[in-house]
Amino acid sequence: MSPLTPSQALRNAIAAEAAAARFYETLASRSSDPEVRSFFETMVRVEAEHGREIEHLGSKIVGQVLPAFATTDASGVETLPAWKSAENLGFDEALHVAVMCEHQAAMHYADLAELFDGEVREFFRAVSASESQHGSMIEGVLRERIRTGQSTFTIGQVVRNLIEIERAAARFYGALAKRCLNPRAKSFLQGMVEVEELHAAQIEALGRDVETGEIPEHANLEVKDVEMPPSWPAPIHLRLETSLALALEAERRAGRYYRALSRCFSRQAADFLEHMAETEDDHARSIEDLLTRMRADA
Ligand SMILES: [Fe+2]
Ligand SMILES: [Fe+2]
Ligand SMILES: [Fe+2]
Repeated sequence: MSPLTPSQALRNAIAAEAAAARFYETLASRSSDPEVRSFFETMVRVEAEHGREIEHLGSKIVGQVLPAFATTDASGVETLPAWKSAENLGFDEALHVAVMCEHQAAMHYADLAELFDGEVREFFRAVSASESQHGSMIEGVLRERIRTGQSTFTIGQVVRNLIEIERAAARFYGALAKRCLNPRAKSFLQGMVEVEELHAAQIEALGRDVETGEIPEHANLEVKDVEMPPSWPAPIHLRLETSLALALEAERRAGRYYRALSRCFSRQAADFLEHMAETEDDHARSIEDLLTRMRADA
């Protein structure tokens, strides 16, 4: 595979931004609530503008005309394909989807930056920072809704959501392990099932110490995309390295999402969510260490 050139990376990023704008546009057209609709319409404008900015500033940096076509599937960078056909999302759900998309994009561009150096690296780091900023803007809306009691995301509801997120992650690793033929990868994935079940139990226990009010019986949103990669290939010949890379992405996603939520709450609830974010981050770090060691040995 030939290495990704800066100009091609820029073209791919522009395609990703266009895909993000289309994604938000679809969600806007599927919403009848005027507040939700106008929120998504704002996001369409933000992403369209973002794409133009990347094209304008990026072409200046590389000093040449960018390739005509993207070489990677851009649709997974700043969208959650599973939500594409959702209709009439509630405002909180809409905010959740957008927060996830923005943080996912921030992670993607931060990783992309590391493939380059100099000005190009700085550029993609800046793109990543602007995605984080989009995320913060949305968090601000959610925070205000929570503060004023308009949100369905009470801390009790969030505790329930987190428990279900962890259980879904355990099922995700379980399903991967079952299909996997490589014994080392299989045993790593089985270990991850136990880790996620433990997380769910931890959240249940810790959640009781936070003043949550009642913890509802069900999650109020689709939780399956939080602690797993949005679209994961599931070949039966999954190697250990691929399993580690999938798990690493899943853990980082969860960490970022929990941290985003922690910024939307205050005091004890915020501390609890931050603590859970750290747990996910620690986890991601140990997987990353393993992966680095493996790659160095190879
Ligand atoms: Fe973007
Ligand atoms: Fe964005
Ligand atoms: Fe977890």
